[in-house]
Amino acid sequence: MRIAVLRERDPGETRVSATPETVRKFIALGASVAVESGAGLAASISDGDYRGAGAEVGPVETVLAGAQIVFGVQGPDVALLGAVAPSAWIVGILDPYVRRDRIDRYAAAGLEALAMEFMPRITRAQSMDVLSSQSNLAGYKAVLAAADAYGRAFPMMMTAAGTVSAAKCFVMGVGVAGLQAIATARRLGAQVSATDVRSATREQIQSLGAKPIFVESVAGIEGEGSGGYAGEMSEEYQRAQAELVSSHIAKQDIVITTALIPGRAAPRLITDAQIASMKPGSVIFDLAAPQGGNVEGTVPDQVVERHGVRIIGYSNTPAHLPADASALYARNLYNFVSAFWDKEQGGPVLDEEIGDAVRLTRGGAVVHPRLNEVVS
Ligand code: NAI
Repeated sequence: MRIAVLRERDPGETRVSATPETVRKFIALGASVAVESGAGLAASISDGDYRGAGAEVGPVETVLAGAQIVFGVQGPDVALLGAVAPSAWIVGILDPYVRRDRIDRYAAAGLEALAMEFMPRITRAQSMDVLSSQSNLAGYKAVLAAADAYGRAFPMMMTAAGTVSAAKCFVMGVGVAGLQAIATARRLGAQVSATDVRSATREQIQSLGAKPIFVESVAGIEGEGSGGYAGEMSEEYQRAQAELVSSHIAKQDIVITTALIPGRAAPRLITDAQIASMKPGSVIFDLAAPQGGNVEGTVPDQVVERHGVRIIGYSNTPAHLPADASALYARNLYNFVSAFWDKEQGGPVLDEEIGDAVRLTRGGAVVHPRLNEVVS
């Protein structure tokens, strides 16, 4: 089984899909690993480090020749893949709704595309869950970026020259990224509050030492959709949430927004009028920026100033922590492939539950039901 590891071609992508640690582990399983020269440089991994782990390192054509599995962080362009083995696996974060054209081309080329972001949220797949591993780091980085852009300190400090008061930080959306954002802001010494539409998060917020801010007055607001994700909320709820947020947000120094609804644009949580109610010098970090943003006026990869408030959002937050994001992502891929390793076949054989969840293309066709849904 030959595994090829590609250098990422998107200009903002600094991550890599294998590390020397995972190369060694794949070789121990019986695979051979070929890494494109320079693949790890942005994540502080040299070609020599990969060679030292037992990988072959070379140009893209030789690396891909005969590969049965191709690893990427993002999906590679199909034009690169001419020399791979028939029906090779293409494994990555394939972004199939946005890059549908590319998925169709994988199908036409007879490749088997596996989208890691479609990993089901079941206990045995937790160690393969790239959304969790990357969101966790993104939540951390969002707080650091906000702290860096804030002209004041986070912790309360009593000094001979007087007291510096603690920053007030509000986290909106308490999934994986939001929980890490709460923990990070607390570690930095901020006074933290948080909200979510899923009432199950109330206890999680409290257990991290933050204050839950919840809409109490609207009936039937469990907010839980399928697979632990949020559903879309009623208009009545959205109105109540907006009122609550308006009164709370005016007193905050830092706001971190992380709210997502799978398969839809990110919900709008903060309007321009609410930004105007905040104190000048406050900072908002919008982690939903790549999905359209939770905050009115966010521009990915730019610091936008509105009413004296700085609004920040990266198009690819995990790429701002390339070494750790790569290490965790690479382990996700290893945990996935090794869990299905079949010694007799000398390679992975997927089961139905996980295989059907992540497989987008097979036998020349797009096979994933979510991509074949007829929009009426
Ligand atoms: P996500 O990235 O889809 O969304 C982030 C957060 O935004 C969620 O907590 C969501 O409820 C919230 N949200 C959505 N609309 C909102 C609104 N209008 N206002 C405020 N908040 C809003 O979520 P993520 O991080 O992927 O986690 C979703 C769930 O999946 C969590 O319960 C998490 O614990 C669970 N999970 C389970 C795993 C497993 O069992 N393998 C692995 C990872 C997460």
